[in-house]
Amino acid sequence: RLELRCERDLGGAQLRLDAHPALAVNSATLLPPPGGPGDPAGQALFVECWPFASYGSVLLITLPEAPYAEQLLTLLIDYEAGEGPGVCWLSPEQTAGKQKPYMYTQGQAVLNRSFFPCFDTPSVKFTYSATVKVPEGFTAVMSATSWEKQNDNTFAFEMSQPIPSYLIALVVGDIVSADVGPRSRVWAEPCLIEAAKKEYDGVIEEFLVVGEKLFGPYVWGRYDILFMPPSFPFGGMENPCLTFVTPCLLAGDRSLVDVIIHEISHSWFGNLVTNATWGEFWLNEGFTMYAQRRISTEVYGLPYTCLEAATGRALLRQHMDATGEDHPLNKLRVVIEPGLWGVNPDDTYNETPYEKGYCFVSYLAHLVGNQSKFDAFLQAYVNQFKFQSITADDTLGFFLEYFPELKEKGVDSIPGFEFDRWLNTPGWPPYLPDLSPGQQLMRPADELAELWAADGLNMEAIEAVDITGWRTYQLVYFLDQVLQKSPLPEGNVKRLSEMYPKISEAQNAELRLRWCQIVLKNNLEAEYDKVKDFLHSQGKQKYTLPLYRAMWGGSEAARALAMETFSATAPQLHVNVQNYVKKILGLGEAE
Ligand code: BES
Ligand code: ZN
Repeated sequence: RLELRCERDLGGAQLRLDAHPALAVNSATLLPPPGGPGDPAGQALFVECWPFASYGSVLLITLPEAPYAEQLLTLLIDYEAGEGPGVCWLSPEQTAGKQKPYMYTQGQAVLNRSFFPCFDTPSVKFTYSATVKVPEGFTAVMSATSWEKQNDNTFAFEMSQPIPSYLIALVVGDIVSADVGPRSRVWAEPCLIEAAKKEYDGVIEEFLVVGEKLFGPYVWGRYDILFMPPSFPFGGMENPCLTFVTPCLLAGDRSLVDVIIHEISHSWFGNLVTNATWGEFWLNEGFTMYAQRRISTEVYGLPYTCLEAATGRALLRQHMDATGEDHPLNKLRVVIEPGLWGVNPDDTYNETPYEKGYCFVSYLAHLVGNQSKFDAFLQAYVNQFKFQSITADDTLGFFLEYFPELKEKGVDSIPGFEFDRWLNTPGWPPYLPDLSPGQQLMRPADELAELWAADGLNMEAIEAVDITGWRTYQLVYFLDQVLQKSPLPEGNVKRLSEMYPKISEAQNAELRLRWCQIVLKNNLEAEYDKVKDFLHSQGKQKYTLPLYRAMWGGSEAARALAMETFSATAPQLHVNVQNYVKKILGLGEAE
């Protein structure tokens, strides 16, 4: 049931909604205004579904007459959602517990049009409510500000704040919850709930409090976390009130908590202030990376945060090396052509909006030159644009209004650092924030990587370095350096593997990813099984695609490993991830 208000006279009587071939639309009915004249059963409308793009179709609904400005319309659409890309149906084997099936939705960027007909654009915000009936023994949860179990099998939800379509999310499964803070609980399958509670008990509230101090009130009520099945394609997804995360975060030592801080940061940047188009996705992710690192700095200090940011910079380096700096996706404002021959916004996903976006926001902070003034600006920015969808022009215009002395100085057109260049020129960021406060943590890792890259290993020097006390991100940073220097001289990686079982036998997903990349780059066939096991254990896109790219770019044996692993795991992967892997492996699948 869609409740619409016509903003202005259009003259036309046709309503266009986003939909998908996987949505079977049975009928559309126009209901009379509540209490007004007309048949309470409503008036049947003519509905057609036309092709629109590779990722969806357009639902054309013909109204009896052109609506006038301010007119309220209530439309009832009867439809069924099946095997669309936004709605994932998992068999029991695809869950952690392997007992019961599971379903989840993932809306971002343009997948929710296969879940329900809507204006599937981040430029439109609305409230929603839902009643969800599930089979006996299942629980439903949604990204909603309130929910109620009405009877055993029915759940009622309401989101009272306006949000864009991509933030509506639903899970139905055998899930239970445990409190981890005054406004937070974790949700997971019963076999994981103990580990989930242990991972984040008592730590979430501090992040929320610091976030509120920096960016203003947390408007969403609760902040809960749902641990998804292993095939969930993202590290985290900021569904309001209920962040979805990969079970890979259950490292046992809170070492991957930066993902949680990131998703919490979206509560202000992304969920309150939203990019109006997917072409300016950096407004969501770049500001969120900046906010994440502000919270991290307050909680964990500058050295650790700089270390984490350095691993982010390494990802950006790897991405730009792989695509070429001049690639059109390596600018902050991306051109996304609509229509059948256009671009699928989901295909533009990469590191640039995150890490180049982070550099641009850091550059703005650098122009201001004073952290508390910039923090105050961020808070004013959120307050100015909360519950709205905006463009980079709005953001930068507000920045210059807020700092008139900078506007006066013309900081938007300093040669080499023009705002226009940041937005519209691909390539490496013209400004990089200073990460040297992390040197105390990075230098030992840099030096150790140097030692391991040498011809003829200096084992005495290597053995003198004790890595037992290193934190996960120090090890990650070390492995990124080793990877960058790979292939290492013959035999070195095998020695490294034997010397540090903490790394080569790691269970931590970020370490496993790097180790697998090193194994492949150095053609260490003896450890190919680790690549296979890792890809069988989870389906996160950012882990899966780099490994398939590495295998496909490697030896015959590596290519065979890719084929074998993909044919065994494909059914478990999210359909988008499946398609990206197929593309890497040259397995057809027309665009
Ligand atoms: N909103 C994103 C995930 C996303 C992006 C889903 C685009 C669909 C389309 C989420 O906030 C995110 O950025 N997750 C990262 C976390 C990391 C940067 C700490 C991830 O999944 O790796
Ligand atoms: Zn994000």
